[in-house]
Amino acid sequence: MAPEKTFYLETFGCQMNAHDSEKVIGTLRQQGYRQVETEQEAGLILYNTCSIRDKAEQKVFHRLNDYKRLYKEGKRFAVLGCVAQQEGERIFDRAPYVSLVSGSASYRKLPEMLTRLEAGEGRITGLDDRQTEETFETEFTARQNPYRAYITIIEGCDKFCSYCVVPYTRGKERSRTSSSVLAEARRIADLGYTEIQLLGQNVNSYRDPEGKLSFAELLAAVGQVPGIRRVRFTTSHPRDFTLDIVDAIDAVPTLCDHVHLPVQSGSARILEAMAREYTPEWYLERIAWLKAARRRISLSTDIIVGFPGETPGDFIQTMDLLAEVQYDCVFAFKYSARPNTPSLTMIDSVPEEEKAQRLQVLLERQREIQRSNYSRHIGEIIEVMVEGSNPNRGQVAGRSSQNKPVNFEWQQPIAPAPGSYLRVKITAAFPNSLVGEVV
Ligand code: 5AD
Ligand code: SF4
Repeated sequence: MAPEKTFYLETFGCQMNAHDSEKVIGTLRQQGYRQVETEQEAGLILYNTCSIRDKAEQKVFHRLNDYKRLYKEGKRFAVLGCVAQQEGERIFDRAPYVSLVSGSASYRKLPEMLTRLEAGEGRITGLDDRQTEETFETEFTARQNPYRAYITIIEGCDKFCSYCVVPYTRGKERSRTSSSVLAEARRIADLGYTEIQLLGQNVNSYRDPEGKLSFAELLAAVGQVPGIRRVRFTTSHPRDFTLDIVDAIDAVPTLCDHVHLPVQSGSARILEAMAREYTPEWYLERIAWLKAARRRISLSTDIIVGFPGETPGDFIQTMDLLAEVQYDCVFAFKYSARPNTPSLTMIDSVPEEEKAQRLQVLLERQREIQRSNYSRHIGEIIEVMVEGSNPNRGQVAGRSSQNKPVNFEWQQPIAPAPGSYLRVKITAAFPNSLVGEVV
């Protein structure tokens, strides 16, 4: 009998990566592999990597160094994802005990690459040169999240923001047909999932290859699949954010009242240097559409501080924009120069301490904004989807349709299952979460 094939997979980075891993796990299982919980038990160790900022990338190389020893014990290593695509064959030089390197645009070829690996080959690569037209679809997706089903609708990115590695790591933009997206949504509903998150680096530049549905129409159609109660989508680019998306949210109650719309900066000059292709006024017009929706839509964003050339005046404009929009959640990052990107050639002019200082000022201000936003929910009754529980402490954690974490006490012996819905009366609020009691 041939020895059992086992694998351990660890994921870094964004939700796209998390979902890619679900597809990779499904593919490995299909190839006869069994997933194990630790590196020690595994014959094949895979890292699905992220290179969005330097820190994320360093983490991976650090980790690879730790496992030199395991190679001698006969274990094999594969590096997948964004660092794999970005570094390509250079990974074999930096980490000679790696046998397989593949970017996400080559996962279709994983079965063949695995066969070569099993035959003892090394230096196996699946690298894309922004040529791939195909998306990676598999019926074997091994969904790891018990309450939220991810569905990719568009892969890659053609935006080329000057700071961003994604167009180089995930290949060119390619959409799935609306029929295959809807078929997957129906299959997911049949499995018992009630929440779907549509994924893409830029979901609203979705173009149906069949020419049937626009992004807003697809969103509405997914929201109308019987059994689906919540639909989310990330990420949106302001440039492609159209009014019909707000109309769809107004018309279809299952579309969540939350939109993540990354702004990156409040300064027109910096936005131009970032090649974002919009001005603060353009962005704020979209925010005004969202604020005019029938339901109150929760807003969140991404911001980069310390982009090359960002002056204290530019930074103040970002702070002014925060004050104006009143986001419920902000992901803020210090600028980090990335390989291959146009901004790599700009002078990284803001010193590290100044970046850290701006980040801190921004996060403190945002905390106050959220303190006030979240406290407005006190007294409301909110529908919460359960995500997890801590039976020892009698506590349950869930999320509102607006994506806000809601925690509540639970006295009964059996904890509510992840994915179940409860109505919770909000009794207290913090800057990042709400507390309540089941009604
Ligand atoms: N440096 C810092 N932050 C970055 N992001 C993307 N590229 C960089 C970079 N080079 C941030 C952006 C993006 C989020 C996912 O990560 O804010 O929206
Ligand atoms: Fe990281 Fe971006 Fe790749 Fe996601 S797409 S894993 S955030 S580099």
